[in-house]
Amino acid sequence: MPLPPAYPPGPRGPVEVATTFRRFMRDPEAQLRTANERWGDVLGFRLGGDRIVLLGDPALVGEVLVDKEGVWIKDKVTRDLSAFLGQGLLTNEGASWRRQRKLIAPPLTRKHIASYADAMVRRTADYAAGLREGESRDVHSDMSALTLEIVTETLFGASLGSDPSRVGHAIDGVMGDFQELVQTWRRFFPSSVPFAARRRTVASGREIDAVVFEVIHKRRGSGERGDDLLSRLLEARDDEGSGMTDAQLRDEAVTLFVAGHETTANALSFALMLLGDHPEVDARLRDELDRVLGERDATADDVASLKVTDAVARETMRLYPPAHLIGREATRDLTLGPYAIPKGTAVLMSPWALHRDRRFWPDALAFRPERWLDGSAERAPKNAYLPFGGGPRICIGNHFAQMELVLVLATILRRVRLERSSAAPVRLQAAITLRPAEGLRMRVTRRPHGSAG
Ligand code: HEM
Repeated sequence: MPLPPAYPPGPRGPVEVATTFRRFMRDPEAQLRTANERWGDVLGFRLGGDRIVLLGDPALVGEVLVDKEGVWIKDKVTRDLSAFLGQGLLTNEGASWRRQRKLIAPPLTRKHIASYADAMVRRTADYAAGLREGESRDVHSDMSALTLEIVTETLFGASLGSDPSRVGHAIDGVMGDFQELVQTWRRFFPSSVPFAARRRTVASGREIDAVVFEVIHKRRGSGERGDDLLSRLLEARDDEGSGMTDAQLRDEAVTLFVAGHETTANALSFALMLLGDHPEVDARLRDELDRVLGERDATADDVASLKVTDAVARETMRLYPPAHLIGREATRDLTLGPYAIPKGTAVLMSPWALHRDRRFWPDALAFRPERWLDGSAERAPKNAYLPFGGGPRICIGNHFAQMELVLVLATILRRVRLERSSAAPVRLQAAITLRPAEGLRMRVTRRPHGSAG
């Protein structure tokens, strides 16, 4: 008789689990590799009262993400975000999620996002025009400010009044505090414990609501129509002809803002870091910009021709996926491959580990954008590359983000070359997103033929 399926193997007992967990937080790549070698591609353990399974097998990752039987919900860390994001797309589930996804998808399709290209390029050109020969800058902080401006303009248009960045900074502040809460021991305390970060979250949350609701009310009242995402969400109607309530609009707007801004900033920072470290790739990209664009900036129509730039963005997110961990929770007892997964188990899938797995990626740790140009990346198994997730909950902003990466990189790199100020490896922080832990100092060299403006 075959044995009934069992919980996956992995570290057992509080000491082994604590050691594994600590090593994982410090160096996920090395730890996952060691853990996979020892326990295999499906690794299960218990942490406190929680059961956690780490999946390193692309086929099983696909099974969870596609979720044919509707048995998975988002994991607890993502669900906790709903304290701030409400019922927005990222944290919503079931029939309500399906309705909202259908309402929000149309303005984010490839065809419709072209109208945002101009804001992306204009804002980036303004930023790059201010870069001075020889200066050293924290490029990560620059990219955060730039993507904040871009998302604010594309989402809210001109309706935020005299200080458009205020709401953005408030949202950023809440997310920063939230990362602090989920990352540290504070998360194990009940939500009634008023840590400073929690008090700030509540206060900033009120400020954000006030601003976003004011914009929504003004728009509804004036009947004004703009090109921005909020206008399109206001006009969206479901099959019964109903639109979204103000509360739903608020949740979706704040969600798009949060989901779309830091992830993109991190991808851009890592791309600039890698290009700085690989002058031969930088030169190839520059050749492409000269050939395709000559003396002008890129438009949405150029994106398809900027193949090297696109490959640089893809290869960057292979090595440094901003969403480095994707989680789900089982809503009932089930089997996954040969294993039993009890109800309530959190299943974590690590794009970081899958993207660096030597079994799927030749020369896995090398920055080789050409693998996306010569067809070799296509030989990796399905779901071995998931910077945007997969299945029905794949990132709804993936075309928007990919276009933004290509346009911002092209606009900056036409004008300047950036090199790291120090040769020391960049320390990473794997919080909700993967980012440089202490910024990214780079030195500016203006390009002789690059446009000054
Ligand atoms: C490089 C940039 C980005 C990366 C790496 C990224 C990554 C991801 C990933 C991995 C997911 C799936 C999470 C899961 O399955 O649990 C996701 C979902 C999502 N992303 Fe993105 N994202 C990026 C940019 C954007 C942008 C620009 C927007 C909005 C304009 C956006 C909006 C969303 C939303 C709303 C969801 C939830 C979708 C749903 O559950 O239906 N993202 N993103």
